[in-house]
Amino acid sequence: MSSLIQHPNLPLPDYFSKFAANYVRQTGHSTLDILGDIITGNVQISANPVGPDSVVHDTAAGPGIGAAALASRLCPDQLPKEMLVSDNVAMMVSAARDSLVSSPLPHVECKELDSQDLSSIPDNYFTHSINNFSIFTFIRPINAIRESYRTLRQGGLAVITCWRRFAPMFIVHAAQKKIRLDLPLMPTPSPEFNEEGVLQKVVEEGGFSKDRITMVEKVLVVTDAENIAGLTALMSGPMMSKAREGYTQEEEARWVESVNQSVKEEMEQFGGIRFEAYVLLATR
Ligand SMILES: C[S@@+](CC[C@H](N)C(=O)[O-])C[C@H]1O[C@@H](n2cnc3c(N)ncnc32)[C@H](O)[C@@H]1O
Repeated sequence: MSSLIQHPNLPLPDYFSKFAANYVRQTGHSTLDILGDIITGNVQISANPVGPDSVVHDTAAGPGIGAAALASRLCPDQLPKEMLVSDNVAMMVSAARDSLVSSPLPHVECKELDSQDLSSIPDNYFTHSINNFSIFTFIRPINAIRESYRTLRQGGLAVITCWRRFAPMFIVHAAQKKIRLDLPLMPTPSPEFNEEGVLQKVVEEGGFSKDRITMVEKVLVVTDAENIAGLTALMSGPMMSKAREGYTQEEEARWVESVNQSVKEEMEQFGGIRFEAYVLLATR
């Protein structure tokens, strides 16, 4: 049974269940595209590329982002022979299952699991472990890293990412300031992960040795109209309800316009919606 204690700074009690169906659109494909870029630009040119003998775990996978990234970036003969897609939210797991129905991956299993307690998985099992943009949502992030470490084989590779700049948060804050400058800005879950060095420290505390960790940074500027529309829908809707706490009905009615204006300003400043990420490649 997986734990469903949610991070206190996520806006809804069942935040990720509500998000499951719209996840890929409303993230503007950002987590998928950055992971795809890591696979082709970093993992496949490392000493540990994914190949037909690989056994891969995507932990806290959302609706199967790691599996989708591998399937879209690798040739059929490079795909791993076995893949586990797990998340502790049932609706994310079923969204993953649905999205993988016609996947070219030879063998994928989708399971409800808590990243912080993978006790149903033996030690030294996976060749690769993906933990993509989830660590800041965990109550006990070090435990999740320990579990990735424990379940990886000696010489196996973990890919762990977090945001340096999660653009929707900046845009939502700008939208809030246009309506109620006096109210607190919407909190970010575990904002310390936005600071350089914090992810690396947690990964080291979780068991990986410093000299076997490589850190890279990635930037994604989202310019595709459909992705911008998806991100705008995320920021305009219930997932960002905490940003409107204390609003009158009249203020609520101005929210969508304020988000649209803030998106426009972001685009003027960066030429698109700008995400920045820290990426750690850690070898056991
Ligand atoms: C921001 S999403 C990232 C999803 C996906 N990895 C991606 O690349 O887009 C965070 C995910 O972590 C999951 N999650 C949060 N806490 C978890 C836990 N303790 N165990 C497993 N999954 C968890 C959520 O349900 C959600 O699907």
